Amino acid sequence: MLDKNVAALLNQQVNKEFYSAYLYLDFSNYYYDQGLEGFGNWYKVQAQEERDHAMLFIQYLQNNGERVVLDAIEKPNVAMTSPKTVLEEGLKHENYVTSLIHAIYDAAYSCKDFRTMQFLDWFVKEQGEEETNADNLIKKYSLFGEDPRSLYMLDSELGSRVYTAPSLVL
Ligand code: FEO
Repeated sequence: MLDKNVAALLNQQVNKEFYSAYLYLDFSNYYYDQGLEGFGNWYKVQAQEERDHAMLFIQYLQNNGERVVLDAIEKPNVAMTSPKTVLEEGLKHENYVTSLIHAIYDAAYSCKDFRTMQFLDWFVKEQGEEETNADNLIKKYSLFGEDPRSLYMLDSELGSRVYTAPSLVL
């Protein structure tokens, strides 16, 4: 049995991860519409990863005998005013998700729930990688985004990203 507060936070995270998938799909659609198919592909793959994160939280709750309750997924409401602002919103969102993961970790730590802490270790690391990826995209866009030829090459590079299943297996 999980602590009530920890279980509630884990359940809430299911919704947050599905929202992340929804948000990144929205980003992806924006980029496709702008003719930046590589960026669109990059965020479509990211949306798949976020869905995987949601499924991992579901699996973990079920492995611990918890009934998972699904909530409505919020409509993405990020203003997409330019290709670069979308990237900045992506980093902002990852920072927010990191804070959520840390809050669950903190709750697990305070009730000596070592199992949940171990489960969350993977997400702590994953968040570090995702923040770095989001930050790198902004840096690359700052360097190459204003020159059409460089942007074309950057877009081609991002178009080669392929989906891989998460390394965490529960
Ligand atoms: Fe599931 Fe990008 O955090």
